[in-house]
Amino acid sequence: MYTKELLDFLTSEVEQLKKAGRFKNELSLTSAQGPRVKVGDREVLMFASNNYLGLAAHPQIVAAAKSSLDHFGFGLSSVRFISGTTVLHQELEKAAADFLEIEDAILFSSCFAANEAFFAALFTPLGGEEQKPSVIYTDELNHASIIDGLKLVRGSHLVKRIYPHNNPVELEKMLAEDATTPYQFKVIATDGVFSMEGELAQLPRLAGLSKKFQALLFVDDSHGLGVCGKTGRGSAEELGVLGEIDVFSGTFSKALGGAGGGFLAGKKELIDFLRQKARPYTFSNSLSTTIVQGSLAAIKLLKEQPDLLIKLKDNTLYFREKIKAAGFKIIEGNHPIVPIMTYDAAITQKMSQELLKRGLYVVGLWFPVVPEGQARLRIQISAAHLRTDLDQAIEILTAVGQELKIIK
Ligand SMILES: Cc1ncc(COP(=O)(O)O)c(C=O)c1O
Repeated sequence: MYTKELLDFLTSEVEQLKKAGRFKNELSLTSAQGPRVKVGDREVLMFASNNYLGLAAHPQIVAAAKSSLDHFGFGLSSVRFISGTTVLHQELEKAAADFLEIEDAILFSSCFAANEAFFAALFTPLGGEEQKPSVIYTDELNHASIIDGLKLVRGSHLVKRIYPHNNPVELEKMLAEDATTPYQFKVIATDGVFSMEGELAQLPRLAGLSKKFQALLFVDDSHGLGVCGKTGRGSAEELGVLGEIDVFSGTFSKALGGAGGGFLAGKKELIDFLRQKARPYTFSNSLSTTIVQGSLAAIKLLKEQPDLLIKLKDNTLYFREKIKAAGFKIIEGNHPIVPIMTYDAAITQKMSQELLKRGLYVVGLWFPVVPEGQARLRIQISAAHLRTDLDQAIEILTAVGQELKIIK
């Protein structure tokens, strides 16, 4: 039963979050995801979704998902190794691996699950406590799913070393200190794109260190796939090191249709191992074929319609230039995540409320999501935004920014 003590605890925790300004509100949409969405009967400009290519409600993807419903029905009612594998799952695994020019891939219900699976499986050996420890070098701003994946490692086989954000110099020092320690495996883990900053990891440097110190390089490219690089293959393509990443994790829940589903991709031996040892794969239902077929259609669209990426890049450049010209301070770069720095949590909260009142939805971020004193509005650009959407957003941001004295 729910005791009074438990209910009081739950209520007081939520109250504390509210008091600390950390309560997360949810905007309830009454339309499909897109550049403009509906909230009740009201239309709002959407600048806070990962719908980078505008595929979330693309007719070809919706048609693909519907055709899978007609053929495969709704659910599979089973995990992959019992009776939950279809030819579509295998096709998507091959498509993801081919897209990243790597040997093989394995699907998960989300990238969060994929990241949890990877670290827990790799660092919890069957051999038990006799096994030599391994070491992980992880960027201090890596995604929560990498952090949680590392927490799931059982036993005392893992030494965790957290390196300062995007700092290969400090990482190299750590690797050099450990050079003579007989670790079983060394792994370097990083996000390909840091989602609060829209900033790319220094992958060429990390790839060099991975070779020099014989460490496996793991890159979570959730915000790079379908966004970065000439053909959308991600941050590694953009930085010219596509063939040098050992393991990718990625998602179909952002640029590639946005419905859900994640994967790990790497050498065949790794994927064979994960099919046996990854607990979220073994003990959780198969990814729905609706998502699988929709994601296949998203990869196909990205390959066949390079104008989607061109539009995304044009929109991003246009928005970044205009918002700087309006006087806002942003984190420089070329990613469609554009953080507008306000530095102040209260102003950021006020600003996002005012923007929404005027028809622009963006997300405000403050401590502890970003470091103290680094509050910001996070804008996300889509290929589906029209020039008029971008201009209107800039107009609203400028008006509110002036009223709140963030800009002149
Ligand atoms: C870097 C990174 N990794 C993983 C995830 C989780 O992706 P999914 O929605 O597929 O669980 C996210 C999503 O927020 C992310 O930003």
